[in-house]
Amino acid sequence: MDKVRAAITAIGHFLPEDRLTNADLEKLVDTSDEWIQTRTGIKERRILKDPTKATSFMAANAAREVLRKRGIGPEEIDLVIVATVTPDMFFPATACLVTANIGAVNAWGYDVSAACSGFLFALSTGAQFIESGKHTKVLVIGADKMSSIVDYTDRTTCVLFGDGAGAVLLEPSTEGVGIMDSIEHTDGTQWASLCMLGGGSLNPPSAATLEQNLHRLHQEGAPVFKAAVKGMADVSAQIMEDNNLTGDDVRYLVPHQANLRIIDATARRMGISMDKVMLNIERYGNTTAATIPLCLIDWEKELRKGDNLILAAFGGGFTWGASYVKWAYDGDKVNA
Ligand code: UT7
Repeated sequence: MDKVRAAITAIGHFLPEDRLTNADLEKLVDTSDEWIQTRTGIKERRILKDPTKATSFMAANAAREVLRKRGIGPEEIDLVIVATVTPDMFFPATACLVTANIGAVNAWGYDVSAACSGFLFALSTGAQFIESGKHTKVLVIGADKMSSIVDYTDRTTCVLFGDGAGAVLLEPSTEGVGIMDSIEHTDGTQWASLCMLGGGSLNPPSAATLEQNLHRLHQEGAPVFKAAVKGMADVSAQIMEDNNLTGDDVRYLVPHQANLRIIDATARRMGISMDKVMLNIERYGNTTAATIPLCLIDWEKELRKGDNLILAAFGGGFTWGASYVKWAYDGDKVNA
């Protein structure tokens, strides 16, 4: 019998209905549809406009879709891990709000803060609980309401981000499928290139932090871009090498959706053509922790049991990583 691995057995998502198009942004800041499309690949993003709803609302809806598709009840869930940098509030953790919202009365849960790598870090963490035998049903959710921290007067960042959530269920499998390997990295030396300075214990909220605009995401695009191109390509090539995979062996690259040019460079380095790359950045922009599961959802019908996927991300921190996943079910047979 093969060893116990954590298999993704169902996926779900939530996307708000409201769209923020490049044309809308042209009215807000000095930008153009042409600049945004050629420099990032983005055409529109989804925005959760209802001010009474936040990240946990999207995460809970994504989780409910997972439960429905898998045909199980919320009380069967052992653990809920939410990757987010836009929690509803500092505490309690968004995972606590999600367990209450969906009725996961037997689950414990916590949040993972690793920006755009959050989903991969949470996936890797959740897999440990399955592989160790401690749990049999772990929900891993990536969810961010980026519109709550984006500065819509800053053209260098406001064109990039959108809101959304994606969720996966991890269960044990001994069929040689599931999360086969993963690599994670952090390097805090360049943290200031991508951060939100205000609101924490360093700069607690005050009239001064509001005045200095510290409660909004700050990014120095060029150094992040440079590090992302290298980080995502290196880690993807490494995980392929470690597992003796060539470009031909990989069914899909599932990259974090931050910039089409970063994804392009990663695919080239891996020796895989763009038709084997999951891409939906043009419709959703960068949804931070949600990008990877939102790609899986869009491609679910194409996925077959045994397909080799490489999931890769780079983000604030800096954080970056890759997972090698052998897909566990035929996507065309799912009752969506
Ligand atoms: O997901 C987490 C990790 N984040 C990322 O991976 C993002 C990484 N960074 C990037 O994707 C890119 O650096 C950006 C998309 C943010 C920027 O693209 P770029 O090609 O690196 O542009 P740049 O920052 O070098 O700026 C080039 C020019 C500048 O004008 P000047 O100084 O040459 O006159 C910017 O002011 O483009 C200008 N610019 C814009 N122009 C129109 C910057 N943003 C805009 C805009 N519209 N929205």
